[in-house]
Amino acid sequence: MKDVYILAVESSCDETSVSVIKNGHDDIATVINTQIDVHTKYGGVVPEVASRLHLENITMVIDECLEKANMKLEDMDAFACTYAPGLLGSLLVGVEATKALSFIYKKPFIAVNHMMGHICANMIGNNLEYPLLSLIISGGHTDLILMESESKFKYLGQTLDDAIGEAYDKVARILSLPYPGGPNVEKYASEGKAVYPMPKLMDDGSYNFSFSGIKSHVNNVYHNAMQRKEEINKYDLACSFQECVTKNLVEKTRKALIDYNLKTLLISGGVASNSYIRNAIKEMCDSIGVEMHMPDKKYCTDNAAMIGAAAYILYKNKKFSNLDVNAKSNVQLKSI
Ligand code: KG4
Ligand code: ZN
Repeated sequence: MKDVYILAVESSCDETSVSVIKNGHDDIATVINTQIDVHTKYGGVVPEVASRLHLENITMVIDECLEKANMKLEDMDAFACTYAPGLLGSLLVGVEATKALSFIYKKPFIAVNHMMGHICANMIGNNLEYPLLSLIISGGHTDLILMESESKFKYLGQTLDDAIGEAYDKVARILSLPYPGGPNVEKYASEGKAVYPMPKLMDDGSYNFSFSGIKSHVNNVYHNAMQRKEEINKYDLACSFQECVTKNLVEKTRKALIDYNLKTLLISGGVASNSYIRNAIKEMCDSIGVEMHMPDKKYCTDNAAMIGAAAYILYKNKKFSNLDVNAKSNVQLKSI
């Protein structure tokens, strides 16, 4: 079969990323232009600033990626991008640029759900066996999804309020750690001890999550100590938080693996780059004979390679999009 080259664009939040992916597996070239330095000044992503920076950078990032791949736009078999979920203004930049390329070069346009991208980060350089369980842990999602094949997604559970990455970011703010919060909380946690009592997280027998309670708890512990002029150990508080949320993730994932008799687990999303969480989930998988796959750390946080990997599955199934597809801030992932 002829090789298929897809140029993929990701611009759902604060990374402008472009990749050329061959046959959904091989990352020929990936460029990620991160806006972290700009947003750090504001303590979080400012949507208007993010979309303006995507607009300034998108053409440059496409050119840089093609140069790195040593290929031309004419060499592409399809053009793909994230169309949802994410920040509307940011998504729009990637969607409009990709639609224009598809129109000019008369090649299919493939609109990809960002969450399918996170899952497919595991397919880069990897062959997977189905059925499997997919755990997505990112800034916007905490999802447990049963996959009977690469194109069938069944939600078992999700967060009912904050996503786990959001909780990390909020705890970072409480502890006055700079944006992006997650990696900084992990760094502090690695130097602390889990000595602060934490609340019991959602334990209703379902596969759903809830992280808003623990965020408020950390806030209360911190501010009560401040008011009483007691010293707070940020390392220990970060560690106590991390241990508590990790235990909850591990328990829910373990339950789903056992209940559905699954032998493979994929983890993905920005929080999957957290070594403590990766190790805890791996240990649990080893103890019950489940094979765990996790993307290389560079494919955990937002990148276009994962969008190209997902786009290839849509390409194989001829699930092309019309040029009237628009960016959407929230669309739940469905089977294709
Ligand atoms: O997947 P991602 O890049 O964007 C979304 O689609 O949300 O994930 C970003 C999230 C942020 O909340 C960030 O704080 C979190 O992932 N994150 C981490 C770590 N690295 C990134 N959280 C905990 N530990 C980390 N090492
Ligand atoms: Zn993401």
